[in-house]
Amino acid sequence: MEKKRIADILRNSNPDETVTIQGWVRTKRELKGFSFMEVNDGSFLANLQVVIDSDFPNYEEILKQLNIGSSVRVSGVLVESQGKGQRLEIKPQDIEIFGDSDPETYPLQKKRHSFEFLRTLGHLRSRTNTLGAVFRVRNACADAVHRFFQERGFLWIHTPLITANDCEGAGELFRVTNFDLTNPPKTKSGDIDYTQDFFGKPAYLTVSGQLEAEVMAMSFQDVYTFGPTFRAENSNTSRHLAEFWMIEPEMAFCDLEGDMDLAEAFLKYIFQAVLDQCPEDMEFFNKRIDKTVLETADNIINNEFARISYTEAVNLLEKSSRKFEYPVEWGLDLQSEHERYLAEEHFKKPVIVTDYPTAIKAFYMRLNEDQNTVAAMDVLAPKVGEIIGGSQREERLEVLDRRIEEAEMPLEELWWYRDLRRYGTVPHAGFGLGFERVVQFMTGMSNIRDVIPFPRTPQNAEF
Ligand code: 4AD
Ligand code: MG
Repeated sequence: MEKKRIADILRNSNPDETVTIQGWVRTKRELKGFSFMEVNDGSFLANLQVVIDSDFPNYEEILKQLNIGSSVRVSGVLVESQGKGQRLEIKPQDIEIFGDSDPETYPLQKKRHSFEFLRTLGHLRSRTNTLGAVFRVRNACADAVHRFFQERGFLWIHTPLITANDCEGAGELFRVTNFDLTNPPKTKSGDIDYTQDFFGKPAYLTVSGQLEAEVMAMSFQDVYTFGPTFRAENSNTSRHLAEFWMIEPEMAFCDLEGDMDLAEAFLKYIFQAVLDQCPEDMEFFNKRIDKTVLETADNIINNEFARISYTEAVNLLEKSSRKFEYPVEWGLDLQSEHERYLAEEHFKKPVIVTDYPTAIKAFYMRLNEDQNTVAAMDVLAPKVGEIIGGSQREERLEVLDRRIEEAEMPLEELWWYRDLRRYGTVPHAGFGLGFERVVQFMTGMSNIRDVIPFPRTPQNAEF
């Protein structure tokens, strides 16, 4: 008897086939003469219905234990379902119960729970329809990320999580230390003596793998990282996490144009892959979470993204009749309300904004000829706002040094980064895609805490 996943059975199997499934009971209904039980194994949105006749051996006793949340293995024959909503059901020959579950205290009852409440059940919420669908889509996205780059000959590189540099220069770093914080070693002048710390100097959790990706791009041309990044920004919003996953491609011999082309092709590829791999889950989101999800996916795949400069974006915002909370003025960063206006209302599709003012962007971005702007690009998406941030990098040592000094970054610490400009420097570019933001965009989930299994946010590291 073959052990099968429910997704495989409901998609591909036929009546009369004998199968074994295992999973968790979602519902049980006792009727006269027989009972229904629905089992879910996480592979599929739909449950597989098990119809148990009352002449099943130990019927009464087994039924008593088959409660919502309990774990079972069922072997039996597939039959065409009489009921609506499913093609096949299973007539059991053998039912094995692994762990029962008290229906009185099991926190996930058959009614709808709020996502906020489900966040307090981080250990159980992935057994619900919505979170189950989210994490299958998340998996399909991750798979698509690797396929996209591997098909194009990019090397997957692993950048460190512990680093001594602040790539974005925003100071939003979590410190890594093994000091006894109640009594750290001090220097003669009374400062904390980091030479005695584990790494011999201050160290942090990385905010981005970019600088190390640039190193690897200088020997492999096209590389990408895909891993967790950490930011100690105290942002309690529906789009920020303290720990999030980022995909960062880096390409040697590439300019901003090539960077934008890759970003656009990448997003289209991921959307198509998820539609192909998880059609039932995407239908579910479209029906239950956000009625525009499928239309949006279609729109992404089949339309070119808009491309405008920051200066044009500011002009558009100034001309719009919309009242914004934050001021719009050349030189100020775009706020999420501005980003969403551009993508959601003006263009009604993703828009790539380029050439931001030098003063509001990171030190590594390539200075444009006008000296006032840098070769940056942000991809803004309807509903989520900034989904990708990228740039062409400064490959000229003198210019880079000036920018490092202006940003008050430690020139000596970046000796290896500067060396790349000294030995075989080349125009290069890359970007970072916020993985959770793309899952949010795709599923229509309104809070980023519901698209990562174990969200880390200010005041919260439970589970
Ligand atoms: O724009 P960011 O800060 O860019 C970088 O880190 C560059 N080093 C990337 C590169 O060029 N290699 O971040 C990139 C993306 C953002 O566009 C956003 O989607 C996501 O990362 N992001 C966050 N996602 C969730 N929570 C947060 N706190 C995030 N901060 C950024
Ligand atoms: Mg950014």
